[in-house]
Amino acid sequence: MIDPAKIWLDDRGQHIQAHGGAIIDVDGTYYWFGEDRSPDNDPGTCPVACYASKDLINWEFRGQVFEGRNPAKIEGLWQIERPKVFHCKATGKFVMYMHIDGQVPGHWSRYRRAEVGIAVCDTVDGNYEWVRSFRPLGKESRDIGQFIDDDGQAYLIFESRPEGGFHIARLSENYLDVAESVAFIKSPIEGGAIVKYDGLYYCLGSQLTGWWPNANKYATSEKLEGPWSEFRDLAPPETLTYGSQSTYLLKVVGSETTTVIYMGDVWRPYELADSRYLWYPLEIGGGEMALKPDSGWAPGIWSLDVRSGDVEYDE
Ligand code: GAL
Repeated sequence: MIDPAKIWLDDRGQHIQAHGGAIIDVDGTYYWFGEDRSPDNDPGTCPVACYASKDLINWEFRGQVFEGRNPAKIEGLWQIERPKVFHCKATGKFVMYMHIDGQVPGHWSRYRRAEVGIAVCDTVDGNYEWVRSFRPLGKESRDIGQFIDDDGQAYLIFESRPEGGFHIARLSENYLDVAESVAFIKSPIEGGAIVKYDGLYYCLGSQLTGWWPNANKYATSEKLEGPWSEFRDLAPPETLTYGSQSTYLLKVVGSETTTVIYMGDVWRPYELADSRYLWYPLEIGGGEMALKPDSGWAPGIWSLDVRSGDVEYDE
């Protein structure tokens, strides 16, 4: 059972700490990476946690796979957000991308460096080693998202504030660089996520309201390069996406049906460790995508059979 926006316990009985996260499937096991905001973290660190599951419901804590002890040696305030792990088939390595940010001299904001960081590991849940940080394609990059196309090609979605939009960018052969932008979508969208469903690409994101929820929007296109449609509301706008912000779209291809799960964060800005996850199956197809409760006013309890892809709702 998944109970959206409620406390979600791991195998240790602790609230899962994988905010701003995403999931990859490695040999039939799902791995969920995200920001670990545990209150007892060393204040000099911004760890990335990894959890593993066979059914997307029961999650085993695999550890803080990246400690994040100011790896880019930023002076002043800094942080790591929205980690995403890609499995590079060409090298066999697991490559973690993260939004790494901090102050620049003479400015108060912690979001001025606007870079991505990379760390690598030989195994999916081992200790990731820092590689470097940089601005992808020389551009400012804040929220990042992950998309792996059906042909295995990996893309980084990154928000580019000075350009007023976001890029969908192909990773290099070894995944250690961002090779080229395949699309720039001039719309102020962050928390970007993409899914391909029934031959159509759907891209989703939130508006730029920081930790505060807003009406998340999606657009569609037959090709990643575009042309992309206008953006439309994912949920009734007055619900502010039921208080959540997009982080990932997870496609589960089962034997019976394909289910696309919206993964959102319900941020609690004054107590980030208590932030919740709003996951819910989307109504999707024919160019439409909707986050719609099966019954009642807000997304309720549901469960999924990852083998068949079938979803069941709790009445
Ligand atoms: C949001 C962003 C979060 C975090 C937050 C800080 O816009 O999606 O990941 O950076 O701002 O205010």
